[in-house]
Amino acid sequence: MASDFLANRIADFSDNRPMNIGTATGGTMEEIYRHLVDRAKRSSGLANALGEAQYFAMDEYVGLSGDHPQSYAFFMRERMLRPLGISALNFHLPGEENVAAAPGAGGCISIYDKMMEDAGGIDLQLAGIGENGHLAFNEPGSSRESWTRRVQLTLSTVRANSRFFSHPAEVPREAYSMGIASIMRAESVVLFASGKKKALALERMLRGRPGEDCPASILTLHPNATVFADWEAASRLRVW
Ligand code: PGA
Repeated sequence: MASDFLANRIADFSDNRPMNIGTATGGTMEEIYRHLVDRAKRSSGLANALGEAQYFAMDEYVGLSGDHPQSYAFFMRERMLRPLGISALNFHLPGEENVAAAPGAGGCISIYDKMMEDAGGIDLQLAGIGENGHLAFNEPGSSRESWTRRVQLTLSTVRANSRFFSHPAEVPREAYSMGIASIMRAESVVLFASGKKKALALERMLRGRPGEDCPASILTLHPNATVFADWEAASRLRVW
């Protein structure tokens, strides 16, 4: 269902330039990409659209090379680019070289935000939600005016991410992340939540007031944001 929705959005995109897709990573996205890749292998229209698209990652760990299996560069290469034969040149990541400030149409933004702006802006931004309500690596308390920058991860995020690393000392404490303003600028946003560990955050996001204590909740102010949740993540939203 979620991958059908995405596949249709991507296949139906029509503009005189390739689609710009903001990519998210993590356990939830892994399954979404698997379905999308399976569908693209059966549909040449979708495969062509994905092959032409430009990809802008939402975030990346500080200090992990693109060859590290837990880096988001590696994640995207193995889950999306390589299975579909998409050129690495179509994939962009935030990093030390592009988080400096740059003037853009939206005022003083970062070089990475300017790259997205120059490409025509993000048409479809994919996102997850953290157990603490983070959006990309915008942790609670992040400003809604934030652009792509280097950020500190909270203990809760470091703990949640430690399941992917063999030793707690290896888990990065910092990341490069699109800001809340960067994400709010996208034409459309689709957020995915899965598992009962996300139930509280999703309830806070959708039932509370939009606020910086739950960065994902700011998306409820976006004119074209869609949420897909499994039963466990949505368990606190039930009305019966
Ligand atoms: P997850 O992460 O899909 O691995 O739970 C999502 C997030 O923290 O944004």
